[in-house]
Amino acid sequence: MYLGLDLGTSGLKGMLIDAEQNVLAIADAHYSVSNPHDGWSEQNPRDWIAAVEDIFAKLNAAVPSKMSALKSISFSGHMHGAVLLDKNGDILRPCILWNDTRSAKQAADMDNQTAFREISGNIVFPGFTAPKLAWVQDNEPEIFLQLAMVLLPKDYLRLWLSGNNVMDMSDASGTSWLDVGRREWSSDLIPASKMRREQLPALCEGTDITGNIRSDIAQKWSLPKSVKIVGGGADNAVAACGVGVFREGEGFVSLGTSGVLLAARNGFHPAPQTAIHSFCHAIPDAWYQMGVILSATDSLNWLSKITGKSAAELAGSVNAAAPSSVRFSPYLSGERTPHNDADIRGAFTGLGIGTETSDLAQAVMEGVAFALRDNYEALKSTGANLQSLIALGGGAASQYWVQILSDLLDLRIEVPKEGAFGAALGAARLAMIGAEKANPIDVLNKPEIAKVILPRSKFQASYEDAYQKFTMTYPKLKAMQ
Ligand code: XUL
Repeated sequence: MYLGLDLGTSGLKGMLIDAEQNVLAIADAHYSVSNPHDGWSEQNPRDWIAAVEDIFAKLNAAVPSKMSALKSISFSGHMHGAVLLDKNGDILRPCILWNDTRSAKQAADMDNQTAFREISGNIVFPGFTAPKLAWVQDNEPEIFLQLAMVLLPKDYLRLWLSGNNVMDMSDASGTSWLDVGRREWSSDLIPASKMRREQLPALCEGTDITGNIRSDIAQKWSLPKSVKIVGGGADNAVAACGVGVFREGEGFVSLGTSGVLLAARNGFHPAPQTAIHSFCHAIPDAWYQMGVILSATDSLNWLSKITGKSAAELAGSVNAAAPSSVRFSPYLSGERTPHNDADIRGAFTGLGIGTETSDLAQAVMEGVAFALRDNYEALKSTGANLQSLIALGGGAASQYWVQILSDLLDLRIEVPKEGAFGAALGAARLAMIGAEKANPIDVLNKPEIAKVILPRSKFQASYEDAYQKFTMTYPKLKAMQ
């Protein structure tokens, strides 16, 4: 039995699988995000530990005989968050999360030093870890003085479970301290942010064993003392493991709160000027690149909030055979790829006296699809050559949305059957690979596919025309601000 722990922003999911990858049990636990000031987003790492204990209790109640045969545990985690520890391993302040924008100035200062883009292969985005530490130096110097160790969120779970300070390559890629091509800490970038090497943990691959479970935890939850703790990785990398996306040409599109277009790469092809993220994968010798848009289903949720109709109702009201003449720019929370613009905001254009709610819904879904096409153009400019995509996230339930994406990207898109996949399964698979020394190729299978969506050539010219017009909007919106 292998346990995957998926540390998300709103909760922790635990998934237990057996050697045939049958899902034996799933348990969830929730915690909150606190926003003490505008743009701040924090979590108390102790809440994550309480959630792990809650998951152990639930799984023990559901399948006790399986938990007592547990071999290994691994992780998926939300990226970039800074967990600050003193010399005793005690938490110095709440974790500053990936979607916290307080360190925008520090990030811009770092991004202006050429070494950061050159060595890390990425823009220093405000959400990344290094600028958060610079903010702490500038604003909480008394805390910075006590800093002995920085961990990422899921690595704090590892420390609690095993007593070891270790971080895997895929998560370390989002710190701005990693030489992502060489898969090692950069001796230039660490001092460039006034940090010391000993304040960062040892590095591992996502499939490496990093330690054993602490005996008091094993005893408390009736787990074998031999349970191994395996590297794990960043949420998108581990979700890719969950759907078997790790070879050049494979990718996924995720229509979640944010939208992600991810391409697996067998080499490192940084292109920071495109605002594409170029990160290590959670398995050795592999990388991936992704574009991120900040408001995908969040755009539909926003429309839902202001119209009083549910997102499903709005999506269901659209059944168009041609692009809308109303157009929507989905920059409700700024944009990462391709614009790297935290200040830009969204817009509707082309409204008429006859415009109805269903037209707005159609424009919103199209706007998200156009923004993902922007991401696809950025990805292609790095040399990524996607052959097909797997659709993930809540928005993938809308056939219309996936269809217009397929038309716009000119790609075959596969929609998996509902059920067990995603980051929790990816984490359980990494636990299995680590404990069994298995070849990732034998474990990271593709999910069962419910529907295959193909581009419709007769609609493509009109969507292409609408997309070209969409691309004219951003510079105009920017000029108006
Ligand atoms: C990636 C990113 C998100 C977070 C939260 O750069 O910020 O994927 O990891 O999901």
